[in-house]
Amino acid sequence: MAMGATDRGAWGSRMGFVLAAAGSAVGLGNIWGFPTQVGRGGGAAFVVLYLLCVGLICAPILIAEIAIGRRTQKDPVTAFEVLRPRTAWWLTGLLGVLAGVGILSFYSVIAGWTLAYVWYTATGAVTGSQDAIGAFFGDFVSNGPLSLGLTLVVLVTTAVIIIGGVRSGIERVTRVLMPLLLGLLVLLAARAVTLPGAEAGLAYYMRPDVSRLFDMSVLNAALGQAFFSLSLGMGAMITYGSYLTRRQGIGGAAVWVVLLDTSVALLAGFIIFPAGFSLPGFDPGSGGPGLIFTVLPRLFDTLPGGHLFGAAFFVLLSMAALTSTISLLEVPVSHLIDGHGWTRRNAVLAITTLTAALAIPSALSNGAVGFFSQLPGLGMSFLDFMAIVWNEFALPIGGLLVAIFVGHIWRVDEALAELRAEGAAFPLGGLWGALIRYVCPIAILLIIIFTTLRTLAS
Ligand code: PHE
Repeated sequence: MAMGATDRGAWGSRMGFVLAAAGSAVGLGNIWGFPTQVGRGGGAAFVVLYLLCVGLICAPILIAEIAIGRRTQKDPVTAFEVLRPRTAWWLTGLLGVLAGVGILSFYSVIAGWTLAYVWYTATGAVTGSQDAIGAFFGDFVSNGPLSLGLTLVVLVTTAVIIIGGVRSGIERVTRVLMPLLLGLLVLLAARAVTLPGAEAGLAYYMRPDVSRLFDMSVLNAALGQAFFSLSLGMGAMITYGSYLTRRQGIGGAAVWVVLLDTSVALLAGFIIFPAGFSLPGFDPGSGGPGLIFTVLPRLFDTLPGGHLFGAAFFVLLSMAALTSTISLLEVPVSHLIDGHGWTRRNAVLAITTLTAALAIPSALSNGAVGFFSQLPGLGMSFLDFMAIVWNEFALPIGGLLVAIFVGHIWRVDEALAELRAEGAAFPLGGLWGALIRYVCPIAILLIIIFTTLRTLAS
């Protein structure tokens, strides 16, 4: 048999693709990242800007990435080489490969925290006053060896799953995970909004402060968060799209992924803010990366059998994180396989080792080592710094390049032919074309330029 479809594997069905892509999209970005960013961005204004970014910029780019992948059936670097040989476009794919390693290196640290909190909530170790819970989190993350160990557990688990061929595994896990996660989130949100004092949280979350709608730094954070949450701008969706067969339509699948991802993020906000504001002296902006780890244990305390709910929540969150780390690792791995002829095993071993080395400063940046915890001159931790570099710059730049490539180089009619292959329905093709040609590149470019100028000026 020739290389190709058989060796690379393919999704069992379009449903399988939707599940895998949603598994990649839904993760820490939704439940940990989104509320944290809303808190930093001043509440509902961030939410409004986020939804605009998702609808006008990210959804069209999601469709473009999937189309590139399905058309070429290749990893992101090779995909650009196939569509435009002997040009520099393959560098867009390479940026994605690097982003995969960069993001995975800090993502695995936080995934390690959620893993530990399964144990801590189940055994009742995190209870008591708000201060006690906050202090517990602070002590926990500043324990360097523990953080490193947990990060390694996450990376090794991801590596083992990827070596064993991811496709059927992801489909199966996500099929059970998604409904359970949504169900539990709805339940927790119902509890949170009925807590005394929850109204203040709802107002913070839903009533935008109009002045912040025009704050460029909030807009840039919203854009970065939207890219991160939908796994865009780094070729993950090109890679997953490359395992689609032509019989499996793209438009409907993309709509599903956007809806699932956005609902989970919005639900997470409906839990964190009402629950947070029901606590005395809560400041949503000061939570930092600990927001969910300090607010949620208090919420679990208010539920009968709260430990079990808490443990179940962190189990589901760990699994959601795992289906995302799998997609992060799959991008560089698929590149070594497709582009350089490595075996899957060696590719996984090499990339995992590299990522683990890069994860060390992030794992030690929450109090364990002073230098990494407060980078001189930057005033932020190494982990925060990585998140900003990759989410707010690398991913939007990757998305910008994809939009320019599909809109002006590969061209919209070619892409539409792919989207409508085998008679697939893809309505609103003209609107999609206009968004990808003009709205996406111009908007992303303006946002990046403004932010860069601001950063340089300050
Ligand atoms: N989308 C994932 C999340 O929200 C993170 C991710 C980013 C995964 C980029 C793959 C690629 O948690």
